[in-house]
Amino acid sequence: MRILVIGRGGREHAIVWALSKSPKVSKLFCAPGNGGIAGLAECVPITELQFEEISTFAQEQQIDLVMVAPDDPLAAGLVDHLEGKGIPAFGPRANAAIIEGSKVFMKDLLKKYNIPTAKYETFDAYEPALTYLRSQTAPIVIKADGLAAGKGVTVAHTMEEAEAALHDIMVDQVFGASGASVVIEEFLTGQEMSLLAFVDGSTVRPMVPSQDHKPVFDNDKGPNTGGMGTYSPLPHVPQSIVQEAIDNIVQPTADAMVKEGRPFKGVLYAGLILTPNGVKTIEFNARFGDPETQVILPRLKTDLLDIFLAVNNGTLAEQPIEWSDDAAVCVIVASEGYPGPYPKGLPITGLEDIQGDEAIVFHAGTALKDGQIVTNGGRVMGITGIGKDIVEARQKAYAAADRIHFDGKHYRTDIAMKALK
Ligand code: AMP
Ligand code: GLY
Repeated sequence: MRILVIGRGGREHAIVWALSKSPKVSKLFCAPGNGGIAGLAECVPITELQFEEISTFAQEQQIDLVMVAPDDPLAAGLVDHLEGKGIPAFGPRANAAIIEGSKVFMKDLLKKYNIPTAKYETFDAYEPALTYLRSQTAPIVIKADGLAAGKGVTVAHTMEEAEAALHDIMVDQVFGASGASVVIEEFLTGQEMSLLAFVDGSTVRPMVPSQDHKPVFDNDKGPNTGGMGTYSPLPHVPQSIVQEAIDNIVQPTADAMVKEGRPFKGVLYAGLILTPNGVKTIEFNARFGDPETQVILPRLKTDLLDIFLAVNNGTLAEQPIEWSDDAAVCVIVASEGYPGPYPKGLPITGLEDIQGDEAIVFHAGTALKDGQIVTNGGRVMGITGIGKDIVEARQKAYAAADRIHFDGKHYRTDIAMKALK
């Protein structure tokens, strides 16, 4: 089969890597791809929101399946556009991707169906939001309604910080239209867990759990990023808690989407927090996580394409899905300054010193310039180590991350430590 993957990050590199192992795949394309994906797929210079160019390319190239990985084209309706032209596509339609695209939609859905989440209020005007905020106490969480590249959430530890975040979103409109509404919600404490599932409407098939590290610095200090590292499994989280999350949150949410006339087809990602009062939902994403995918797919033993086809055919309940018992740890190597402004175009060296059995290098913000791999984004690469346990996987990931060099290279040194404490 001829497959086109849409996207350009480490997540897309991991998806292309997994698909490249499928005997059913005869040709892989990625639009637009990156410097690492180019080694496994033919990269085409079409970007994620160029719907007409994507569908024309898919028709010309007789693509059998377009896999839409990122949030923006999903929310903007790329799957609907492709289906409208008779091109098979993997991913939710826009009316289901809204579970990620609007936090107000997501919170109201969870409230309506009694699915555990933080207590909250929503506002579409600044003054009432400010009045409500002033009636609350810190810590408190302020969230822009729409997509904001993982940066629309402020966990405010003081009321000054909370008021500043609200002002940024609603008055200064730093996230544009994504901040036309806000969610103000209760601060929850506990370890976080990312639980992704393949969903074909009513059938939910969970993947192995993982944990992200959002703040940029060690010990969860500094501003939030798209994610600085992940690991899987979570040896300190019992299976009963994972099952609680499936039974009380993921399955009821898929069922709720069906009842709302918005059946979810694709990858549903539940961002969860394990509070002393049970598992609660922080967010839903309508796609694979980045960098969760870089630790999940290396543990998948089943052909990923078979699972995508089962989702699209509505036969997910019968599809075998097998996972390895190995542990995986992914360390993100980032540009100096990220998540703020950062330089681009810096040469990256040392990649050739990483042995295949030591770690898998998933490129994110890289480009190929005159035959040299250079930096081209904030999160430059994710280095995934695989081992018999977290200790070994971690040691391999860091050994490989140390071999990579570029000016200003930054990574967290404590990825997966929460599993070992
Ligand atoms: P989100 O973009 O919704 O995943 O939020 C980003 C991060 O903010 C999460 O991974 C949490 O660490 C934190 N966060 C979001 N909502 C809450 C909450 N209600 N209580 C505590 N932390 C939160
Ligand atoms: N790693 C967080 C996300 O993909 O949203």
